Amino acid sequence: MNKTIIVSNRLPLQVIIHQNTLKIIPSVGGLATGMKSVHAEGNGIWVGWSGIPEEELSTELSEKVAKEIRKEKCVSVPLTLDDVEEYYEGFSNKALWPLFHYFMEYTGFEEHEWEAYKRVNQKFAEIVLENIDDGDTVWVHDYQLLLLPQLIKDKKPNITIGFFLHIPFPSYEIFRTFPWRKEILSGMLGADLIGFHTYDYERHFLSSVKRILRLDAHFNQISYHDRLIKVDSFPMGIDYDKFYNAALEHSSNSKEKSELYRRLHEHISEDKKLILSIDRMDYTKGIPNRIKAFEYFLHKFPEYKEKVRLVMLAVPSRSNVTQYKKLKRETDELVGRINGKFATVSWTPIWYFYRSMPFDKLIDLYISSDVALITPLRDGMNLVAKEYVATRINNDGVLILSEMAGASLEMNEALIINPNSFEDFANNLKRALTMPLKDQKSRMKFLQKRLKRYNVEKWAKEFLKSLEETNELKSNII
Ligand code: UDP
Ligand code: G6P
Repeated sequence: MNKTIIVSNRLPLQVIIHQNTLKIIPSVGGLATGMKSVHAEGNGIWVGWSGIPEEELSTELSEKVAKEIRKEKCVSVPLTLDDVEEYYEGFSNKALWPLFHYFMEYTGFEEHEWEAYKRVNQKFAEIVLENIDDGDTVWVHDYQLLLLPQLIKDKKPNITIGFFLHIPFPSYEIFRTFPWRKEILSGMLGADLIGFHTYDYERHFLSSVKRILRLDAHFNQISYHDRLIKVDSFPMGIDYDKFYNAALEHSSNSKEKSELYRRLHEHISEDKKLILSIDRMDYTKGIPNRIKAFEYFLHKFPEYKEKVRLVMLAVPSRSNVTQYKKLKRETDELVGRINGKFATVSWTPIWYFYRSMPFDKLIDLYISSDVALITPLRDGMNLVAKEYVATRINNDGVLILSEMAGASLEMNEALIINPNSFEDFANNLKRALTMPLKDQKSRMKFLQKRLKRYNVEKWAKEFLKSLEETNELKSNII
């Protein structure tokens, strides 16, 4: 039976070694959480990194990791400490990530990191090739593996390869600054189908292909080295039923309430509201900006003092990279300053958690919050916004969403704001807090209907169907 091989830098599970014993925990981030349900259904395998450098594993532990990972239909790609430093923290997260999110001032171009990026993409290719059979389909994910499609195509020209980018593709004016722009585009063009979250990212990609490689696209197909490559947009959804059903269960009277749930609800009453934000601790998410805007809101509308609380979950991410360390320091300081400035004996304006939370606790946060404040400065999609909506089983609650998130294009009924305008921010927060229930419900119902229909299963099906159709393109050429 033919299978689909999913390939991404990070596996849906992460290995942690604690006092010489092995612990496996779920990975955080939209790619892993979204693709997890797609993977669980299919008969395929998932190739990726376990999250632990080889040097930290004895031979015995290494075998144990491989065995545990295998049980979850995963195959691990061994990365050394050098690989992690130069390819993952370096090229992927100090060059590609900031540039593709329009943070040019954070972007560094290091030749040795580019060499490592090529070397590790090659490593991934070797493991994929060891696991591939004729007739299989390969689905490569995200910016850490932009060269992989071509590396596989070179060795296995008949294998069908899809590529999906989970982050924005920047405009040509940004992308052109990249020293290895031609190599990156050629690497991606090894795929038969290239997918993006939004039409804008697709358009930016096509414009770069045209200007940098001098290739034209006709009806979103690029002709390249005797092959036709399809480019399209597929906005990623969530496992809607999983979130909805969990919210139903957590809200039911028979379910024993967690300590977190109880603490959150102590603060809720007719005139006291909870505002929620959940992100990885990443500068693209606009966390300091959000805290400052919240401060501005409390100044502009002082009647909300002691009436609102911002519950902010920031999940540790890429904490060895300098910009992320700085962001953590800045966030800690800001939260401390604002809490110090406004707190009273009975009220702390910001409840700040710097950790990841298990699924059950995330649900408690979602169902307890009157407003979700999702205000990235730039975000490929943002699944948290969608998850909040899916958990609103009574159709109440308001989503405030940045127009810089890919998700904003599908979520018109949210209050869409420009996160750089504190005025826009404060006024919309007030609007959310005073929105009549009828209005909340009608907006929520529209959002939910759309998210339920375009869930992650549908997203994956449409991508794979479109990928399969590329086989017809191939036979037309022959
Ligand atoms: N998430 C998680 N544990 C946490 C907090 C968040 O697993 O403690 C998940 C969250 O449910 C969501 C994902 O992490 O599915 C974040 O995806 P999103 O697209 O919002 O942002 P990304 O991290 O991919 O930039
Ligand atoms: C985003 C990226 C993913 C990445 C995730 C978590 O969602 O698109 O590729 O896996 O962030 O980041 P990390 O560096 O921990 O894998």
